[in-house]
Parts: sequence; structure tokens; C-alpha cells
Amino acid sequence: MATCSPGDYLIVPRNCHISVISALVLSGAVPKYIIPEYNSRWDIAGGITQLQLDETVKELEEDGKRVGAVLVTSPTYHGVCSNVQGIVSVCHPRGIPVIVDEAHGAHFRFHDSLPSTAIEQGADLAVQSMHKVLCSLTQSSMLHMAGDLVDVDKVSQCLQLLQSSSPSYLLLSSLDAARDQLSKNTNIFDEPLAIASETKDQLMRIPGISVLDLPCFASDFPAIDPLRITLSPSDLQLSGFEADDILYEDHQIVSELVGTRAVTFAVNLGTRVRDVEKLVQSAKHLSEKYFFANSSESMKENRVCGPLEKISVHITPREAFFTKKRRVRIEDSLGEICGELICPYPPGIPVLIPGEVVTHDSLSYLISVRHQGITISGAADAELNSILVCNL
Ligand SMILES: Cc1ncc(COP(=O)(O)O)c(C=O)c1O
Repeated sequence: MATCSPGDYLIVPRNCHISVISALVLSGAVPKYIIPEYNSRWDIAGGITQLQLDETVKELEEDGKRVGAVLVTSPTYHGVCSNVQGIVSVCHPRGIPVIVDEAHGAHFRFHDSLPSTAIEQGADLAVQSMHKVLCSLTQSSMLHMAGDLVDVDKVSQCLQLLQSSSPSYLLLSSLDAARDQLSKNTNIFDEPLAIASETKDQLMRIPGISVLDLPCFASDFPAIDPLRITLSPSDLQLSGFEADDILYEDHQIVSELVGTRAVTFAVNLGTRVRDVEKLVQSAKHLSEKYFFANSSESMKENRVCGPLEKISVHITPREAFFTKKRRVRIEDSLGEICGELICPYPPGIPVLIPGEVVTHDSLSYLISVRHQGITISGAADAELNSILVCNL
């Protein structure tokens, strides 16, 4: 809202957090999506590239559109960082501000071997969920600003519009305590980094287990958060969900995030060596039990990639939000304008965003995934028997 007036374009990765769609509703900005790299072996979306951004900005410029801002999610939940510096180098000469959703990267500033922060790379605004990896209370976040491309008074006005006039001193003091902890312990991330690195080395040596790393992506992403450990049990012929259930039920290991082909763990300041030793031991058990037992079976191919080639935007998310809606059977929704966000997770790339036409491809994709145990976030009917469409 501080960067885009109604009708301005916001360039944004398609797998942005739902809060970005809310911001589109509030601001009236028009989204221009960049499809992130999608790795089907891992069923994970990566970041966006400088080249994709450059092409998108030029396309909008050729059409005479005004770009209000570019928003990048870096790192992603799996820790994949985009080249923010490169993205800034495309945007700043044109006066376009860069906003970074750095929700999962609040710790980056606090160790030399962690990736560079968005602000260090020249971003104008970066929002960090301090509670995710650092030690503040849930819901506490920080918004960082640099440079003078974004009007600080406008940002303050927006915050006034969106925030309570009775701030939580509990949350504020927890942010201050987290800041204090970091400022007084300069080597605080030495231990978590050593633990994570050793754990990855050990997991990679286990037959049937792979660990996500930058070479898993075709794009040249600059970094991956070393504190995120994403493992694939695919060569054990287990899905991520199956491996996660076994790790939880048989070994009481709670993961951070689970997908069809991967399970992610977050190492943080509270992680102890005994925690990761237990993870490695449990992964060894999984391997011993399933590597040979399952090696002759071929894993069920239970997903297809999202139908994101032909997104058809009919009205903006804001117009869709204020339009009257009706509920229709999913089978009857072809050609309708979708009235709610429909985002199968994994991989967390929305198939339909409010205001988009339900195409043949999106419909058949949704019908194919709805009974596969995948979480459908955004949709009021999580079973996807019906969806909300706009009455136009
Ligand atoms: C990429 C991303 N951005 C933003 C958020 C929202 O952060 P918060 O829950 O601190 O509001 C999340 C939450 O998981 C996220 O994954």
C-alpha cells in the first residue's frame, strides 16, 4: 500500500504468501505474477531469477503499465534465496522499489556464513518474522527500510491504518529481548550452523535419503539457508507424508514442514546435538527398513505439476473481493471467475487467485489433486467439492 496506488502493477512470485494477496485487495494494485522454478522431483518451488524479473518489467513497460513495486519472497520456506541484488539492479535504475518477504530470514544478519540479507543487497523494504528462527514471541515481526525510494511517512500511515492503536507490549518487549540476545552474543549461530552442517553430511550418507541443496535447481539461486534441512525419502519409495508419519509416530520427531516428496527440519538457537542425533538415527532406521524392502517398487506418481502456463486474470483481487459471490459445484465452475484463493499445498503455488478465470487446465488439475490428501489452503471448502465464484 505504501508503494502501489490502485491500478499500479505489483510484480510478485506466484507462490507468495497469502498476506500478499490481502495486500493486493487492500491496495487495489494489479498483480503481475512470475512463476517460480518448480522442482517436480522434490515437489518444491524455488525462487525467481533476475532474468525473469527483467523480462517481466520490460513486458509491462512495453504495454505502458506503471510498476509500483516488485515483491520477492527470499528465502522461501525451504530456504531458497533469490538474487535480490540482481533484482534490485533491474528495478532501481527505473525507480521501482523492491520489497522482500524475508519472513524466514530474520537470522541472516547474524553470521557471516548465512546468506546476505535483503537490505544488505539493496532492497527498500524487508519484513522479517522474528518469531520464526529467532526467539521472540509468535506474531512479532520487524519491517526494515533503507534508501529513499519508499516514502517513510506513507509507510507510517499504512501501519496506522493496519495496526491496533493498542500495541502489545508483550510482543514489543519480546522483540527487544531477541534483539538484546543477538547483540550480546556475536557467535550465537556458530553452534546451530555446525549442528546443521554435520547433520546434513550424515543424512546424505544414508542410503535412500537425499538432502535438498542448490544444485537441485536449474536456476542459479545464490544461496540456501544452511539451517533448513530438507530431506527426500523418495528413493525409499516413501512419500514425504509417510516418512513424516513414521518419524513422528515411531521416533517422536516433529518436522517443520512436510510435502509429498520432502520433509523439512529447521535448526535454530534451541536445537541441541541430541535432537539431530535422534533425527539421523531415525533416518537410518527408515533407510534400513525401507531401502531394500521397497527398492523394487516404483513410487506412485501422485501429483502432476500445476497448470500455471495460462493464468487468465479477469478482474483484480480487490474487485473480486468486493464482488458478490455464489458457491458452485467444482465441476460446474469452468469459465467462472474465481472468488477465493485456491492453493494446493505442496507445492504452495496458488492455482486460482480471486479474479481469475477457472480454465479447463486449472479445473482438471484441482479435480485431480483434491482426493490426494493434499491441503488446499485458502478455499472455504477444503474438500473442494465446491468453490466460490464471482457473480458477474
Ligand atoms: C513466506 C512467508 N511470508 C510471510 C509469512 C507470514 O508470517 P507471519 O506468520 O509472521 O505473519 C509466512 C508464514 O509462514 C511465510 O511463510
